[in-house]
Amino acid sequence: MSGRVTGKRVLITGAARGMGRSHAVRLAEEGADLILVDICESLPEVEYPLATRDDLDETARLVTELGRQALTYVVDVRDGAALSAAVAEGVAELGGLDASVANAGVLTAGTWDTTTAEQWRTVVDVNLIGTWNTCAAALPHLVERGGSLINVSSVAGLKGSPLHTPYTASKHGVVGLSRALANELAAVNVRVNTVHPTGVATGLRPDSLHTLLHETRQDLGPIFQNALPIQMTEALDISNAVLFLISDEARHVTGLEFKVDAGVTIR
Ligand SMILES: NC(=O)c1ccc[n+]([C@@H]2O[C@H](COP(=O)([O-])OP(=O)(O)OC[C@H]3O[C@@H](n4cnc5c(N)ncnc54)[C@H](O)[C@@H]3O)[C@@H](O)[C@H]2O)c1
Repeated sequence: MSGRVTGKRVLITGAARGMGRSHAVRLAEEGADLILVDICESLPEVEYPLATRDDLDETARLVTELGRQALTYVVDVRDGAALSAAVAEGVAELGGLDASVANAGVLTAGTWDTTTAEQWRTVVDVNLIGTWNTCAAALPHLVERGGSLINVSSVAGLKGSPLHTPYTASKHGVVGLSRALANELAAVNVRVNTVHPTGVATGLRPDSLHTLLHETRQDLGPIFQNALPIQMTEALDISNAVLFLISDEARHVTGLEFKVDAGVTIR
């Protein structure tokens, strides 16, 4: 076999649908075996539904159809102990771990005066502490032989994306945590990089953001406008960045903020 990540074992959170599923399929195409984690339950603070158990099973089916292994775990990334236990079980079954993709994330929308403390806590808990929990669950299995941590941020991790302040803050936090870890872990050959997508059509869809941008704050629209003449990118474009960062082609790449953003952050 000559896949770009043949034999690598990769943990992906938020793997039931959207970009997480796309990463799983793209990595399986290139020879990886996968530990797939998702909450498979909706959250009251998030206005759109999260994924279901059927969604997670479908991702696993797509991976096994490609001849690779897929182990599934229903875990909330906010629960560090449960996540570490699930990862340890998956790693024991696969015989090791080479990389993780902290992809689970949620988005709430609102102006500064309508954003609630509950939204703040949920978004920071899932997007930032959940990313930390994912790194912490993976690292015990990586420090002996080296590996690759990929933390999914956003263009909102690099610019002041308005109307979802908790999300923007959490995604900036992911950058800080990743930079610090990249320094701390370089000595043991663990690379830590972030990925920064512009808009991708997935299940992450708070209708109220659309309403705010089109009815209340049209003046903020240009901040979200890509430089390239496309409205959105596709999950596969992000998966190709993730694939590169996991592969040995990126063996000397760490501390990178990998933008797949159609140029929105140069504006
Ligand atoms: N879609 C976009 O436009 C966009 C842009 C930039 C960054 N991102 C980021 O990309 C990542 C993937 O998002 P997506 O667009 O595929 O969204 P999505 O909602 O389709 O998928 C996110 C997945 O994470 C899962 N999840 C949510 N909370 C969880 C938790 N607490 N524990 C475990 N799993 C949980 C959901 O069930 C879902 O399957 C997120 O981190 C998101 O912030 C998305």
